[in-house]
Amino acid sequence: MSRPSKPHLLLLLLPSLIMFPPPSHQTQYPRLIDRIVRDSAFQSYRTKHHKKTAILYKLLLPPSLSGVAAETVRYRAGSLKRYGAAIREFRVPPGVFVHPYVERLIVVRQNLGNLSSIYSGHGNISGFQLVSPVLGLLFYNATSLHSSSSKNLSELKVLVARKSITINFSRVVGDLRRLRPLCAVFKLDGNVSLSNQTASNICVSREQGHFALVVESSKSTDGVEKEVKVSKWKVVVVSVAAGVFGAVLLGLIVVAVASARRKRYQKEEMERRAYEEEALQISMVGHVRTPAAAVVRTVPTLENN
Ligand SMILES: *[C@@H]1O[C@H](CO)[C@@H](O)[C@H](O)[C@H]1NC(C)=O
Ligand SMILES: *[C@@H]1O[C@H](CO)[C@@H](O)[C@H](O)[C@H]1NC(C)=O
Ligand SMILES: *[C@@H]1O[C@H](CO)[C@@H](O)[C@H](O)[C@H]1NC(C)=O
Ligand SMILES: *[C@@H]1O[C@H](CO)[C@@H](O)[C@H](O)[C@H]1NC(C)=O
Ligand SMILES: *[C@@H]1O[C@H](CO)[C@@H](O)[C@H](O)[C@H]1NC(C)=O
Ligand SMILES: *[C@@H]1O[C@H](CO)[C@@H](O)[C@H](O)[C@H]1NC(C)=O
Ligand SMILES: *[C@@H]1O[C@H](CO)[C@@H](O)[C@H](O)[C@H]1NC(C)=O
Repeated sequence: MSRPSKPHLLLLLLPSLIMFPPPSHQTQYPRLIDRIVRDSAFQSYRTKHHKKTAILYKLLLPPSLSGVAAETVRYRAGSLKRYGAAIREFRVPPGVFVHPYVERLIVVRQNLGNLSSIYSGHGNISGFQLVSPVLGLLFYNATSLHSSSSKNLSELKVLVARKSITINFSRVVGDLRRLRPLCAVFKLDGNVSLSNQTASNICVSREQGHFALVVESSKSTDGVEKEVKVSKWKVVVVSVAAGVFGAVLLGLIVVAVASARRKRYQKEEMERRAYEEEALQISMVGHVRTPAAAVVRTVPTLENN
């Protein structure tokens, strides 16, 4: 029943490549995740019945990003400006607008989960360590949804007129008050800025990007209590960095090397397989025969062209 698929073959090849990670790609890696999540968001509006505005849809990501959670939501610029938005941990205040103007936009929210550590060596925050997962909020031009140019689609410039965007980490971290973490804002241009929290587990930003709570690396050894509190994230950061970073990095580089067109095709293929397997199981109840699956398979190929 399970057919050999291209994404799985790529993953099988990874262990042999782990010894040769190209270091020059490390800084590009976060943006690579952004592009994959973005493509997945646009794809979800094209292929699924994700039609409504202001409804958060969960995204299906490729296996290499299984630790990442992402959702997408669509807005009319006018209503976003008038009412603002609450997107999981993010609160976008009324008055936000994008420049140059677009009528409709797609917002993507990410929780990088156990891949957050890719941001720990990012920019110039090497003296700090993450004590929260990295969360992302990115804005895109939804006008290009049905054109084929989304491969090249970059984030819109978001301007916050009055109040800042608020990020509430309370749902993704424990009580970190004793650590007095700082807010790290990873901007899209690669710059990182640090600021104090505005309240416990609350950060603010005037722009889109990625966000995390960090503490100075030396701080974690100051006291046992602090050590205990950080240890969970330390373990995640260290083990992910040492063990799986190379594998995941290469997984994404391999995915990136494959053309965007092929990537989209593979994603469709994965979704199609899920439907096929459902259809297969249903048909097997009646027939216990495989030819039924072959008939189903040819139809999406025709639609694809
Ligand atoms: C991250 O978590 C996912 C599922 O929770 C798991 O499949 C994946 O192997 C994990 N990745 C790393 C790098 O730990
Ligand atoms: C990183 O560098 C920028 C300018 O290059 C600086 O403004 C910022 O404070 C630095 N951040 C840290 C955490 O050192
Ligand atoms: C948004 O996308 C449309 C269609 O691709 C394009 O015509 C328009 O210039 C884009 N706007 C911005 C601000 O990128
Ligand atoms: C795609 O991006 C490249 C580099 O950023 C740029 O030179 C090119 O003009 C873009 N193409 C389109 C159609 O936007
Ligand atoms: C942050 O989220 C927590 C948990 O959802 C909530 O109790 C708290 O009131 C929120 N804080 C702010 C400032 O919204
Ligand atoms: C960081 O920001 C400064 C000014 O805010 C800018 O000059 C610099 O080019 C930025 N760095 C990067 C890597 O974009
Ligand atoms: C945070 O606030 C303290 C005082 O409460 C100040 O000394 C420190 O410079 C601030 N840090 C940042 C990054 O703004």
